Amino acid sequence: MRQSFAFSAVASLGSLSSMAAFVASDPSATEVLAIGDWGYDDPFAQEKVAAGLRGYAKQHSVRPQALFMLGDNWYGELAGGAHSPRWQSHFEDLYPATDFACPAYAVLGNHDYQRWPESKVDAELEYARSGKSRWTMPARWYRFALPAKNPLVTFLALDSNMPKPGGKEKARDFTLTPEEQAQQLAWFETELRRPRTTPYLAVIAHHPVYSDGPHGDHPVLIKDWDPLFRKYKVDLFMAGHDHDMQHLEFEGHPTTFFLSGGGGADLYTLKVEPSQRGPYAQKVYGFSHLSLSAKELTLRHLDESGNLLHALTRAPGGKGTILS
Ligand SMILES: [Fe+2]
Ligand SMILES: [Zn+2]
Repeated sequence: MRQSFAFSAVASLGSLSSMAAFVASDPSATEVLAIGDWGYDDPFAQEKVAAGLRGYAKQHSVRPQALFMLGDNWYGELAGGAHSPRWQSHFEDLYPATDFACPAYAVLGNHDYQRWPESKVDAELEYARSGKSRWTMPARWYRFALPAKNPLVTFLALDSNMPKPGGKEKARDFTLTPEEQAQQLAWFETELRRPRTTPYLAVIAHHPVYSDGPHGDHPVLIKDWDPLFRKYKVDLFMAGHDHDMQHLEFEGHPTTFFLSGGGGADLYTLKVEPSQRGPYAQKVYGFSHLSLSAKELTLRHLDESGNLLHALTRAPGGKGTILS
């Protein structure tokens, strides 16, 4: 597909400072901060990105109404499951309630779909059920809306761990079953068919549908999900999985594809240059910031120090402007 030119690129006229792009947003906006691919075995980079996220929120007085944890929440072993000390040291303490007094809506990545030693999927669902944390995952696929009062965006959180027919898995890895894949798809379309009650509709999941990173485009998601994104005019799809930051637009496609995979796992080298397919892709650690107002959505990628990498706005109906 060709890149969309429905977006006007203000940034090509000269770069805006991070502050300029920040203050352009509506002060009454609802704020969401997002990270993907964060719970890495070696937490060196995760801790740096988390410090950058906390510093950014403080510097700009961002009091988010939600965190999005975009999957690959736990790499490696999660001994003790829902009782693992990693929950405290590398979730609660790094993204603390003192800075982020809000639910942390989580989706499942391929590294969560591992029995290491027991199912990390079950551990994450159990930790959410315990009710002692902001960690929010009522099911593997679920719906929520933001802000809680007079919501502007309906979010459908999906599980993108598709069965691999004939594919060889490592013994500890697993996926959705084909039956679960079909159940989720039926649920997804039922939710999409409901009358829209918010100006925006967004989907979050771990695997990208389209990616300039080494994982590339996902044939199952292109077959199962992309026609529904088009048919029901999904405004925004947020994912992780490739360890980089991206924003892709396609001509005639209603959806903005926003990928935030720089939360702490080792970075990947891009496979497609953003000059070929973009407007933006970069091998860099970082996190993302979504501001919601009735007038527009503002999406930003920030690096591990909280410096602005890329920003865009999107009005209801899909008209977009790249700010930086
Ligand atoms: Fe990952
Ligand atoms: Zn992944």
